[in-house]
Amino acid sequence: MTRQTIIAGNWKMNMRCDNAVALAKGVVAAVGETPSVEVILCPPSVYLSEVGDAVAGSAVSLGAQNLYAAEDGAFTGEVNAAMLSDVGCGYVILGHSERRTLMGETDADVSKKLHAALAGNLVPIVCVGESLEEREADDTEKVIERQINGSLAGLDEVRAAGIVVAYEPIWAIGTGKTASPEQAEAVHAFIRKELGKMFGEDVAAQIRIQYGGSVKPSNAKELLGQTNIDGALVGGASLKVEDFAGIISAG
Ligand code: G3P
Repeated sequence: MTRQTIIAGNWKMNMRCDNAVALAKGVVAAVGETPSVEVILCPPSVYLSEVGDAVAGSAVSLGAQNLYAAEDGAFTGEVNAAMLSDVGCGYVILGHSERRTLMGETDADVSKKLHAALAGNLVPIVCVGESLEEREADDTEKVIERQINGSLAGLDEVRAAGIVVAYEPIWAIGTGKTASPEQAEAVHAFIRKELGKMFGEDVAAQIRIQYGGSVKPSNAKELLGQTNIDGALVGGASLKVEDFAGIISAG
């Protein structure tokens, strides 16, 4: 089963409008017209429109970092799937560990968001990953199993094939400490096994699993060369055209 490599830049809460647009244009130029990998930029929601204009008509797609799982209504400060789609998003990151730990998002919340994303025709990028304490307690698989089962609850096989899962060990995020290719591959293989139990092996073989956590040009090739690593979800290194382009060219 060939899975197209998918590289996404999660800009988190960084940038201002001018440099967001400049970065997006730089990525568009670096990527060219027919990249062999799928490339997505996920700016802060206030800059989605401007970044969307900068990537319009190019091979680079637009994604959001979160959504609120409800129809239009009295939800002050929130943005729903229809709005994201309206400004040109095709993807949305869900259940990032920063949202799970800082905003208290649970697997049940992530599952609600997943269904809202799919109903709004957005491809969800569902993040899972263990903390350092959990890894040291040998609980990585238990945590991942719980997150995968909870976050993907209620999903059917047909829709499951189109989602993206991102494995982001919390101890590797923004720390410069990358999981070794072997460590990452072991968890990715475990995730695919879990997906197989939920949706069947054929569907599991189609689901792309990104790795995230201190991915940079110097380690991207080895990580992306692993059998079950189908892409990268990049934080810090997506904020500079050269670094992000270096990761894309490793894909
Ligand atoms: O979502 C991407 C992420 O959390 C990884 O961040 O800065 O370690 O690449 P970073």
